[in-house]
Amino acid sequence: MAKYRIGVFASGGGSNLQALMDRIRSGELPADLAFVLSNNSKSGALAKGKAFGCRAFHVSGFSEGGEDKAAARMASIVKESGIDLLVLAGYMKLVPEAVHALLKNRILNIHPALLPSFGGAGMYGHHVHEAVVKRGCQFTGVTIHMVNAAYDEGQILLQRIVPVAPGSTAEAVAADVLESEHAHYWQVVRAFALGELKPTESAEPGRAVAMGRFLDGFPPFDL
Ligand code: GRF
Repeated sequence: MAKYRIGVFASGGGSNLQALMDRIRSGELPADLAFVLSNNSKSGALAKGKAFGCRAFHVSGFSEGGEDKAAARMASIVKESGIDLLVLAGYMKLVPEAVHALLKNRILNIHPALLPSFGGAGMYGHHVHEAVVKRGCQFTGVTIHMVNAAYDEGQILLQRIVPVAPGSTAEAVAADVLESEHAHYWQVVRAFALGELKPTESAEPGRAVAMGRFLDGFPPFDL
């Protein structure tokens, strides 16, 4: 059977991408990384993808001369790569409709908080952790979910809780959340690669709990 193929879209430093590549290299994640694509030519993600030896594309409205052309290029990269799953790893732009059309229910995202809290417009990167600290939360966490057109509203597959120590800074919270992201994202991708999770349109409640059986240390605390 052909190996499961994934592609990654990323905009930033690429530490989540690196965590996935580490598990591919170690053999724990049975998948081929077909490509890395970034809207940011200077992103650590592109450099890390190249260093890993996979195809790495810079595609943005700027590089392609317009958002429509960028969307068309992304769709053609996705199409010819033959990927089974698109993994968003810190991708800061909306996935264009042309890509959604090719990968219905086969796009995953990771969000650095417990959705539906601290999601939606403006809730990305450090803004999320600043809002968590400002609100006085005692817990935050990680949400891994399917991506639909409404972005942060796709089916939740896995959530992990990360405690927020009293007086903690947004930077400290970000570091703890990132560590949890690295420990868990690859496990969800592996569940897809092994056929334990299947693309579905259902938003069946309780699915996040069912996902816990793929992990060590359920219930979902990283305490
Ligand atoms: C992660 O916290 C991810 O959840 C968020 O952006 C950050 C990306 O970090 N969407 P990196 O580029 O993987 O280091």
